[in-house]
Amino acid sequence: MGVTVTVEPDRIPFGRTGLPGSLLDIALAYGVEIDHACGGVCACCTCHVIVKEGFGSLRPATDQEEDMLDNAPGLTTRSRLACQAVPDGTSNLVVEVPAWNRNLAKESDSHAEVTGTGPGARFRLGWTDSESIGRLLLASRPQVHPLSVGFTDLHAWVCALPGFGDPPDASNEARLEAIQMAWLKAYAAQQQHA
Ligand code: FES
Repeated sequence: MGVTVTVEPDRIPFGRTGLPGSLLDIALAYGVEIDHACGGVCACCTCHVIVKEGFGSLRPATDQEEDMLDNAPGLTTRSRLACQAVPDGTSNLVVEVPAWNRNLAKESDSHAEVTGTGPGARFRLGWTDSESIGRLLLASRPQVHPLSVGFTDLHAWVCALPGFGDPPDASNEARLEAIQMAWLKAYAAQQQHA
């Protein structure tokens, strides 16, 4: 069933999930459920949508978004991550939420993970997903400087992230360092745009 909404630009951002004015921000504000396992910080692919019309009016995807989209099931040339796709308002949009996403959104009441490599597959973070973990750490602790955190705390914080599924003892110094560096990179990028 289709839902039509007329966006009121003055109300942007509607919420705190996804980029302000993104398709996810708009959808959630108007009661359209789109899954968003990472909370809208470009660290998963669960908010994958297909933009049927108006694709050109979206702000171009970043390399980060492209990387995450590569894991999305049913990828098309008109695929975007709803939390990162921000329309410029010059055109009407028709956006399709893939059926598996709708189903998962309905069945899941938490933001625990979802999807990854195929319809219905689960998205799970592990110790080698440094980029995604770095972005999640930044989103959950925006005031913390990554280099101020020791490996003991870092280990505990990573294990506590929603969707993290690797055994705690499968980490090592090199993996923690890679996560810390990815977090630092995301943190520096955020500071630059602040
Ligand atoms: Fe959009 Fe995770 S919710 S990338």
